[in-house]
Amino acid sequence: MSPKGDGPIPDQDVLEIGAGTGQLAVEMAEAAQPATWTFTLADTSEGMREVAAERVSQRGWTVLDRDYSDPTTTLDDASYDLVVAQMVLHHVKDLVTLLSSVHAMVKPGGSFIAIDLTEEEGREFHVHHGHDGDVDDPDYYHDGFTETAMRQLCARAGFSEMTWSVPLTIKRERHGRIMEFPLFLLKAQR
Ligand SMILES: C[S@@+](CC[C@H](N)C(=O)[O-])C[C@H]1O[C@@H](n2cnc3c(N)ncnc32)[C@H](O)[C@@H]1O
Repeated sequence: MSPKGDGPIPDQDVLEIGAGTGQLAVEMAEAAQPATWTFTLADTSEGMREVAAERVSQRGWTVLDRDYSDPTTTLDDASYDLVVAQMVLHHVKDLVTLLSSVHAMVKPGGSFIAIDLTEEEGREFHVHHGHDGDVDDPDYYHDGFTETAMRQLCARAGFSEMTWSVPLTIKRERHGRIMEFPLFLLKAQR
């Protein structure tokens, strides 16, 4: 995903949830130039946060240990122009709480963008470490998402003006062959 497209987008304060190593944020910030996009990167994995912190150390961005699906987590209310979640929603058990938290943190008029697995192919995505073919990744709760499910979740959290597309497909080896996994991009407005 990139902010390229409909002309320059002004400076943005962005929160990325489940930011992993920070690669997407760096790519977005570089694509946004000359505008300045400032990222806050949140991830529950200490290892991921360490890699991300090193990667973005020159940029002055913040890297946080935050689980926004935990209702006790402190929220930065109405602080971000954009919240992004790429390939993390399927790891989150309580999406109702997560999306309510995201809604609270987006500025009025701001946006939430989710990129994740579509339901049809998603069920194979985490079957790759053995265990007689069972899913053996315990940190995974959803076999991808339908457009209807995502729209309903976002509406319940208070978002409006949702748009849905399936703009890209990633390839992974599963069961000794290359499989394709279409990813959706959902954009919602606060
Ligand atoms: C598949 S990785 C995706 C990383 C990155 N967004 C990307 O697209 O490359 C999922 C990430 O979500 C993080 N994660 C899992 N559950 C989370 C949660 N409840 N809150 C924040 N991060 C979470 C994991 O630690 C991991 O870094």
